Amino acid sequence: MRLTDCHNFHDFRRLARSRLPGPIFDYIDGGAEDETTLRRNTASFEDCDLVPSVLRGVEKVDTSVEIMGQKLSVPFYCSPTALQRLFHHQGERAVAAAAAQLGTMFGVSSLGTVSMEELRKAYPGPQVYQFYFHRDRGLNRAMMQRAKDAGVQVMMLTVDSITGGNRERDKRTGFSIPFRLTLGGMTQFAIKPVWAINYLTHERFKLPQLDEHIHMDGGALSISRYFTEMLDPSMSWNDVAEMVQHWSGQFCLKGVMSVEDAKRAVEIGCTGIIISNHGGRQLDGSRAAFDQLAEIVDAVGDRIDVIVDGGIQRGTHVLKALSMGAKAVGLGRYYLYPLAAAGQPGVERALQQLKIEVERDMRLMGCSNISQLSRANLRKR
Ligand code: LAC
Repeated sequence: MRLTDCHNFHDFRRLARSRLPGPIFDYIDGGAEDETTLRRNTASFEDCDLVPSVLRGVEKVDTSVEIMGQKLSVPFYCSPTALQRLFHHQGERAVAAAAAQLGTMFGVSSLGTVSMEELRKAYPGPQVYQFYFHRDRGLNRAMMQRAKDAGVQVMMLTVDSITGGNRERDKRTGFSIPFRLTLGGMTQFAIKPVWAINYLTHERFKLPQLDEHIHMDGGALSISRYFTEMLDPSMSWNDVAEMVQHWSGQFCLKGVMSVEDAKRAVEIGCTGIIISNHGGRQLDGSRAAFDQLAEIVDAVGDRIDVIVDGGIQRGTHVLKALSMGAKAVGLGRYYLYPLAAAGQPGVERALQQLKIEVERDMRLMGCSNISQLSRANLRKR
């Protein structure tokens, strides 16, 4: 199977699976516990049907949107995700380049493997910096200052990871960072030699957003240990209100799921919220974000940019979210499999395919710009 054989999410996923060591594939692919929420995320789009309009003159289609002051040429962006150089040696550089080429936003994670400064300098697209609230308040302040100095446009605080999700696939495989050379790990290196050679012959694995502050001592830090030992479970609305004030720019919360929390986000001065269950990786049994969208848009949609992520695999999923009232959607696994499968050309191809799908689907819906999409175009089953 080659890149040119990849026509959709499932094809890229299959190619990624064939290239990645099993534990790394499972880290991307897996969710928490029974993976109910992970499955619901995509299923929720399938529980909702589109009702197209016809004969509307759709020769020209405008897919652009504006969120949190950033103009995007397409209504989707690359959400921040961790550890990208572990999936492909180009990592964040490939994703930022592909996003910038398309004219959309990309995110850099606190657990990113290329520094936010390098990415900000090298790629022109709007950039989000995702961060977690650490026990070490000095670290939190230092991170905000770094992001400001680097010229990052949007701060994104993840609020759904107050503790680590129960990722049973990772427990089974022993997944940890840096990828450990255990006996199982060695076997994986041996059976995925192309990945292994690339991993070993490129720049050493590091976490440049955090490495001044955490010491891995050559040992391994599991994702769940990072969450439980370094992040602050006492984080409250007052703490976040202070951060929003301190940042005094575009600031969004990722992982809001209730109307009440959405209202509080508005009250403390956030300019965006991402309705999200973290790709089904945190609280299993949490509702699909798409299913929570209508009530949140109705409550705060005129005061804050409401964005949604989770389970998006198709142009029609994007259009359903926008019709329900989201301003844009975030992608995670959608671009991670292509990254793992083929690096930058993979991500470029996947993003381009989604843009083409969105354009085609808008024409088929009888819409020439995003603002024409509305709930009149949707029916829940
Ligand atoms: C995860 C965190 C790191 O989902 O975002 O693995």
